[in-house]
Amino acid sequence: MALKHIILTLLTLFGLVAIGDALRCNCTNCAKSGYECETDGACMASTSFIQGHEQHVRICITRDSLVPPGQPFYCLSAEGLLNTHCCYTDYCNSVDLKVPSLPVSSGGPWGPVELVAVIAGPVFLLCMLLLVGLFLFQHHQRAYSHRQRLEVEDPSCEHLYLAKDKTLQDLIYDMSTSGSGSGLPLFVQRTVARTIVLQEIIGKGRFGEVWRGKWRGGDVAVKIFSSREERSWFREAEIYQTVMLRHENILGFIAADNKDNGTWTQLWLVSDYHEHGSLFDYLNHYSVTIEGMIKLALSAASGLAHLHMEILGTQGKPGIAHRDLKSKNILVKKNGMCAIADLGLAVRHESISDTIDIAPNQRVGTKRYMAPEVLEETINMKHFDSFKCADIYALGLVYWEIARRCNTGGIHEEYQLPYFDLVPSDPSIDEMRKVVCDQRLRPNVPNWWQSYESLRVMGKIMRECWYSNGAARLTALRIKKTLAQLSVEEDIKM
Ligand SMILES: Nc1ncnc2c1ncn2[C@@H]1O[C@H](COP(=O)(O)OP(=O)(O)O)[C@@H](O)[C@H]1O
Ligand SMILES: [Mg+2]
Repeated sequence: MALKHIILTLLTLFGLVAIGDALRCNCTNCAKSGYECETDGACMASTSFIQGHEQHVRICITRDSLVPPGQPFYCLSAEGLLNTHCCYTDYCNSVDLKVPSLPVSSGGPWGPVELVAVIAGPVFLLCMLLLVGLFLFQHHQRAYSHRQRLEVEDPSCEHLYLAKDKTLQDLIYDMSTSGSGSGLPLFVQRTVARTIVLQEIIGKGRFGEVWRGKWRGGDVAVKIFSSREERSWFREAEIYQTVMLRHENILGFIAADNKDNGTWTQLWLVSDYHEHGSLFDYLNHYSVTIEGMIKLALSAASGLAHLHMEILGTQGKPGIAHRDLKSKNILVKKNGMCAIADLGLAVRHESISDTIDIAPNQRVGTKRYMAPEVLEETINMKHFDSFKCADIYALGLVYWEIARRCNTGGIHEEYQLPYFDLVPSDPSIDEMRKVVCDQRLRPNVPNWWQSYESLRVMGKIMRECWYSNGAARLTALRIKKTLAQLSVEEDIKM
């Protein structure tokens, strides 16, 4: 409204120049009269700022127009828009008026109220935003921990899984018939792990101790990792929970749990317990019959074949290479069959992208069992099958350990580790490489093994596991088939 009024006023003014005799003024729109005018009223100068443009006007105002008297309408300024000056001496309107501007943009000093408003306003807004954010975050956290508790402790779910009369076998059976094929639900794993009573140490390895524990009257094995070894704990649990990994010749995984006791984190892997312990322990204690040898060898091959095999389909399994196969990492079950254990160094093959699921390093595993290409670091790590071939080399050494203990016609040899006669205990890589790569030596296969079909077959398999060229070695499946046939010929019931 004000703006419209002022424009109208200005427009009117432009046409309102009356020439009188008393007063002479500057006149911006009086080109004909030399930019001058005369009036009986007042000279007026105004500067306006309208729609972004500055306009300077100097005119004469008639006496009739100077209404109301004292504060003539034409002489009024409008803050921020129009600066007007009326005067009553000749050419007095030659002054240069400043462009009017709004108080805010004029940068003039603010009053204390404005200052407080300008500073406190945004601060208050910021505080409000922070408070709202904090509230939303806390709400989200509460909802999250509530969900977590439900997942871990929901008694309704636990009842389903952990009814009092259920044994571990029942649990595993339930899981294999209804579950995803990769393991017990995490909250069941945790509850089982936290109700185990540890009994005695049964083994020591790279990462910590292995204990026998009791759960609902049955035995379980608990591998306890030190807090420093969290990555190894996580990796082994991850591998054991690979979909479709369960197999009678692979150690049966039960639970993984990380329990914070305030000072450190206890990292547990719970698995089936096998009282015979490792194949290494077993062969140290006992010699084996031909039947016993074939059972051990065939079951180990079956376990390794399953590990290596890729199963396609939604419930399929990736190929897995063990990378630390040895007699200490194979367990002997009550029925005389093997279960492959210690999957902490295993790698999985992602066949779609033909990649390996972790960045593998050149040399892992136990030096004594390292294949020549691993010792020489010539193994092609881009090719997943290379890792399988290295496992097969190690399986050959394990077969040699077993066959030496085979009791035929009253003869059997004492237990020895492979290369016991060629390298010191705890050999270095260099010591192993000299023997295995440079001298191309392998464990001795005695001539008398040729006299017994089973030992002859075992000896032949070993040699075909030990080729320097990894690709030339047998596959686990081939070995399994050969030994299965042998077991039929020897009339062995598996
Ligand atoms: N489930 C089990 N039942 C019986 N003994 C076991 C079991 N698991 C491991 N052991 C014993 O503990 C030893 C170390 O276990 P392992 O899993 O190989 O640990 P690490 O990764 O430390 O080598 C094995 O050689 C074996 O003697
Ligand atoms: Mg081990």
